[in-house]
Amino acid sequence: MRLQERLAKNKNEGKALLATNFYNFETLSAVLRAAKNTNSDIILQVSESSIDYLGVNVAKDLAKSASEQYGVTTWLHMDHGQDVTLVKKCIDAGFDSVMIDASEKPFEENVKITSEIVKYAESANVNVEAELGYISKLGQDQKMVYTQPKEAKQFVEATGVNALAIAVGSAHGFYKETPKLQIDLIQEINEVTPAALVLHGSSGIPDDQLQKAIKNGITKINLATEIKNIFMKSLREEFVATDGIDLRVIFPKATAKATSLVEDKLRAINHKNVQ
Ligand code: 13P
Ligand code: ZN
Ligand code: NA
Repeated sequence: MRLQERLAKNKNEGKALLATNFYNFETLSAVLRAAKNTNSDIILQVSESSIDYLGVNVAKDLAKSASEQYGVTTWLHMDHGQDVTLVKKCIDAGFDSVMIDASEKPFEENVKITSEIVKYAESANVNVEAELGYISKLGQDQKMVYTQPKEAKQFVEATGVNALAIAVGSAHGFYKETPKLQIDLIQEINEVTPAALVLHGSSGIPDDQLQKAIKNGITKINLATEIKNIFMKSLREEFVATDGIDLRVIFPKATAKATSLVEDKLRAINHKNVQ
């Protein structure tokens, strides 16, 4: 099933998919093991910087062959695409989904750029996610512009986008204080637009809030920082504890920690899914 169909189905059923970022083979295999162990389908995402690091085709081939090896249903998604040329390159390379992020631009310009990508993605049958409002990056900026339901409706109608990232109180990275998602706002936006709603910045959001968000219309949950953090923390501990040089012994310990984290998230999300 194409991702756009699956997200539409999720929206009808009040369910969500977890979308995890990966950076290398280890973090990719970590999330695939977690998906396998919990019998979950999962979205695999790469950001522009990860694509710079891995290369478009390596990212795609790695995600595809590893998914087959672990026997997990996955979709490959480009996360926060700001470079239109690179977004188109991902579509051409066979990604299942792309995000065009022109959220820092004025409304009309965001509509124009997003529409161009929707049109480009159409013949390839690729899912397109856009962002409306502004989801801040903790540590870099504290700007927060909530998504307005009326604008969301107008934006989705004007662009024909399948999925919409909304600013409802979450932020990228770790929070200083426990965040409080605007659940009523999620519900309001969900009622006025047919697009699948995406929650960014899910690292640091307590499970009960994630579950409430899903119940009120979130269909895709983006998780990155917590995976990176637990992986690197474990690696640092391993390096202190050993002077070994066998990567294939040291890395799997960090991979296992990341797997267990993602398993917990998937269980929390699936718990809502089966209710
Ligand atoms: P976190 O890093 O807060 O988990 O956010 C992830 C994200 O939104 C990726 O697009
Ligand atoms: Zn994001
Ligand atoms: Na976050």
